[in-house]
Amino acid sequence: MAFRLSQRTTLAYSDGVQIGSLTLPSNLFLSPLAGYTNLPFRLVLREIGGVGLCTTDLVNARSLLEKRPKAFKLIETRPADSPLAVQLFGSVPEEMRDAAQVLETRGVASIDINMGCPVRKVCNVGGGSAMMREHDKTAALVRGMVNAVKIPVTAKMRLGWDDENITAPELARALEEAGVAAIFVHGRTREQGFGGTVNLVGIRKVVAAVKSIPVIGNGDVVTPQAAKKMLEETGCAGVSIGRGAFYDPWIFKRTVEFLATCRSRREKALNNSGLEASVLDLGIKNEPPHVGSYENQDGLPPEPTFAERVRVMRRHLDLMIEIFGEELGCRMFRKIAPWYAKRFGPCHEFNKHVVHVSTKAQFDTVLENYVRWRRQFLDASGELQIRFQPAPLVASFMREAADGVIPQAISVPKGPVERW
Ligand SMILES: Cc1cc2nc3c(=O)[nH]c(=O)nc-3n(C[C@H](O)[C@H](O)[C@H](O)COP(=O)(O)O)c2cc1C
Repeated sequence: MAFRLSQRTTLAYSDGVQIGSLTLPSNLFLSPLAGYTNLPFRLVLREIGGVGLCTTDLVNARSLLEKRPKAFKLIETRPADSPLAVQLFGSVPEEMRDAAQVLETRGVASIDINMGCPVRKVCNVGGGSAMMREHDKTAALVRGMVNAVKIPVTAKMRLGWDDENITAPELARALEEAGVAAIFVHGRTREQGFGGTVNLVGIRKVVAAVKSIPVIGNGDVVTPQAAKKMLEETGCAGVSIGRGAFYDPWIFKRTVEFLATCRSRREKALNNSGLEASVLDLGIKNEPPHVGSYENQDGLPPEPTFAERVRVMRRHLDLMIEIFGEELGCRMFRKIAPWYAKRFGPCHEFNKHVVHVSTKAQFDTVLENYVRWRRQFLDASGELQIRFQPAPLVASFMREAADGVIPQAISVPKGPVERW
C-alpha cells in the first residue's frame, strides 16, 4: 500500500527535524510525564544522548504568572538541559499569552500547550483535553500565544474524546492555521486512558490533515523497533517517548543507532536492487518487502549491561540530591529506582528496601546488598541466566510481532495524575 508522501517521510530515519525556527538534531522527543520529567531525569537522558527535545511536566500558566515557587521549580533548567520545551496548561488566553512571554524571556526553546490532560481539575476550567472540544476558542487562544512570542509554540493532544469523536485531524489543521509549529499526538482517545492499542491509523490521519508542519507520534514506544514502526506506518516526522524512557533511558540513543543502521542497510539494498536513489529520498513506503522491514530485529544495538544500568541509576540519584537536596531527593527517588530495577532481573529484594531510603549512604547499602543477593541468578560468566531475564517490552501496536513470547505490560507510573 502506498502511503501519502509528505515532508515528514524524508526525515523518517532520525536525521533531525525542524520545529519552526528550531533545528533539532534528532527527531526523538521526551514526552512530559508530570512528576517525573524533572531536571535530573532530563539531564540523565541528555548525558546518554539521542534525544532531540525534552519537555517539562505540565506547568500551570497562572501559577507561573503568580511566581509560585512550585511552578518555577518545574521550569528549573541549566545549559546542559537544552533545548528545552515547557508545557503550559490553562484556558485563559491572556494568561497563556503572558506565561509564554515569561518563558521566552527566560530562554526556553519552545512552548507546548497541553490539550490532552484528562484530569477533571484541568478540564473543568477548559484546559487539557477539554480544549479538543472547542476548536474555534482553542485556535484563538493559540493565535494569541503565537503572535506574542518568536519561539515555536506546539500543541499536544490525544486523538479525540472517544471513538465517536476523533477530532485531532480537524483540530490539528485549525491549529496549523493558527500558527503552531508542530503537533504531538498520543494515538489514543481520552476515553481509552492507557488501555487498548495505540491507533497508528489515527496518527496517520493527523499527519495527512496538516499541510506542512511536523506531526510527532506518541504512545507505547518502548523499543527502537516500535519507534521505527510508528515512523513508517504513520509518516510522522518524529516520535515522542514517555514511559519508554522511564523504563529505559537508553531508548533514544539505541533508537537513533538502530534507525541509522536500518537506513544504511536499506540504502545498500536499494542500490543493489537498482532502484533510484530518489525513491529513497522521497521516503516511498511500498519498497520491496525484504528491504528494511520492521520485523527484522538485526541491527539493534545491545541492551545496556547491568553495570551500566547501575551507573546511570546512581548518577540519577546524585542529580536528584544536587537539585532537590538529600532528603527530598532520596525520598523522590524511592519511586524512580524501581523503574531501573524492572530490567535488573529478579528485583523484589531491591524494591523492598529502596522504598525506605532517606540518604545516599542508605541507598548504597541497599544496592550493595542487592548486588550480592542477585549473584544467585547469574551464570558462570556473570550474566543473568536466561530464565531470569525480564520479559521483553512490546508496544500495543506490535503484539502480533511478539512471536509467542508473553510481553511485559507497559506500566503507568503513579503520580499527581491518575489517568492521562
Ligand atoms: C504519570 C504520567 C504523567 C503524565 N503527564 C503528562 C503531562 O504533564 N502532560 C502531557 O501532555 N502528558 C502527560 N502524560 C502523557 C504522556 O506525555 C504520554 O502522552 C503518554 O504517556 C503516552 O506516551 P508513552 O506511552 O510513551 O508514555 C503523562 C502520562 C503519565 C503516565
